[in-house]
Amino acid sequence: MSNEFLLSLRVRAISEEARGILAYEFVSNDGCPLPAFTAGAHISLVLPDSMRRSYSLTNSQRERHRYVVAVNLDPRSRGGSRYLHERVRVGDILPAVAPSNAFALVENARQSVFIAGGIGITPIRAMIRRLNDLGKHWSLHYCARTPSAAAFTAEFEGDERVRFYFDQAEPADRLDIEGLVGNLPPHAHIYCCGPASMLDAFLAAASRLPAERVHYERFAATEAPSRAGGYTVTLARSGRSLQVPAGRTILQVLQEAGLDPAFSCGQGVCGSCETGVLAGRPDHRDQVLSENERAAGRSMMICCSGCLDDNLVLDL
Ligand code: FES
Repeated sequence: MSNEFLLSLRVRAISEEARGILAYEFVSNDGCPLPAFTAGAHISLVLPDSMRRSYSLTNSQRERHRYVVAVNLDPRSRGGSRYLHERVRVGDILPAVAPSNAFALVENARQSVFIAGGIGITPIRAMIRRLNDLGKHWSLHYCARTPSAAAFTAEFEGDERVRFYFDQAEPADRLDIEGLVGNLPPHAHIYCCGPASMLDAFLAAASRLPAERVHYERFAATEAPSRAGGYTVTLARSGRSLQVPAGRTILQVLQEAGLDPAFSCGQGVCGSCETGVLAGRPDHRDQVLSENERAAGRSMMICCSGCLDDNLVLDL
């Protein structure tokens, strides 16, 4: 079990990066260097009412003095983006879970191809910075509703490795994900971060590629968490058993029992709560594990996944 450690972050600057998108620069409130991160990582901000929201770090992983995230004001906001846009101001202190990475960059790939949709540019921007530091080849296909809704465009404009696509363009000028994926060089790794419709099209197009060359990150859960309950969770290290009733997740049951498991997004997209499974078949509901990892059943995300058997033994 982990004793969760929260960082204390101070908002040093807020800037408007595009219509509806604000960038927040956080520094450590105690002035110490921040925990290191790798490109593609996110932090989870702990907001009032136990809200936690994960945001990709968009600055260079070389920087230890700050974290920069960009937040799109989502009209369907469950509260996180609205709170940040409307309530958080320069100088405010926010607790946060330290960075973790469920969208890691393969640094030794000979070529990396990125597809960014809207705010999905944020982790990809950090990845591109890293590849620039390493002198590696990359290209970016950047889709947005309109030019004014696309963040960080100034730094990409004029770069022949970058192509922009906007929703109002003629169909012939829209991104052909299937064509792009189908014509990838055999050594290229491809990454996608964007809205659900883009991810779905990407995964369909990339289904014939080796899984190790396909990388993606979703913003939000696409499956409801398992709350069926009716099974027992045994914690192998202590031998303690807990009943998971209907309506509760494993994470909630552990927390209510006074335990302190690691978690971050709470919705199956970040990987922070990944837990080893020693017995029992998980009912996987996350967006992190691959099909092969799901089938192997050796780990699960306890924030959202349940159990198909009467007993589940976790490596906790
Ligand atoms: S807390 Fe993010 S996947 Fe479980």
